[in-house]
Amino acid sequence: MQLVSPSPLYKDSFLESVKGIVADGNVHFLRTAIDENNFQKYCDTLIGYKHGIGLPEEYVNETVLWLLDGNEHIGNLSLRHELTEHLLKIGGHIGYIIAPKHRGKGYGTKILALGLKEAAKLGMEKVLVTCDKTNTASAKIIEKNGGVLENEVADENNGWKKRYWIENRIVK
Ligand SMILES: CC(C)(COP(=O)(O)OP(=O)(O)OC[C@H]1O[C@@H](n2cnc3c(N)ncnc32)[C@H](O)[C@@H]1OP(=O)(O)O)[C@@H](O)C(=O)NCCC(=O)NCCS
Repeated sequence: MQLVSPSPLYKDSFLESVKGIVADGNVHFLRTAIDENNFQKYCDTLIGYKHGIGLPEEYVNETVLWLLDGNEHIGNLSLRHELTEHLLKIGGHIGYIIAPKHRGKGYGTKILALGLKEAAKLGMEKVLVTCDKTNTASAKIIEKNGGVLENEVADENNGWKKRYWIENRIVK
């Protein structure tokens, strides 16, 4: 299993994941419209976010990575390089999603573990990861990856968020 940069090599299984994720009600992870006839452009747009290119105003640089098992797309991870006021309170450094058909098999735990390694490469020693208070699976994922609960805060749009910090081992 590995995290890779978005690439047309994985187009078919990525689009398969998209169907399941969109049907599950989550479109935000797409970030921008997909042109299936120019999938390279979609990938390039996501890769550009790492360098701050094409991001909405007030967004910080962000690395978007795909979890693969073999050549099959399993899920997405977003690694924000720094925290804004809003990310510090609600969003955290790392967000992830697993395609519905692949859930409940340990991939969520693995995607965060691999994402922490990517964060370490960027020199991030303390990583903030948050989840909805009702998201039991995500809370378990964060705790299994060493998350220490700091507090729970009200998210004006969506109930309560649990805020966890993870001490990250920097490999030099
Ligand atoms: C949350 C999410 C990433 C979990 O992915 P996953 O691949 O199913 O996670 P795992 O298989 O690694 O499971 C992690 C733990 O949660 C448990 N779990 C999985 N689904 C669960 C559910 N629906 N309810 C309760 N616990 C659940 C698993 O049993 C496992 O616990 P264990 O280690 O004690 O056995 C996935 O459901 C998802 O993408 N949800 C939508 C997006 C989202 O919520 N992202 C997280 C934002 S913070």
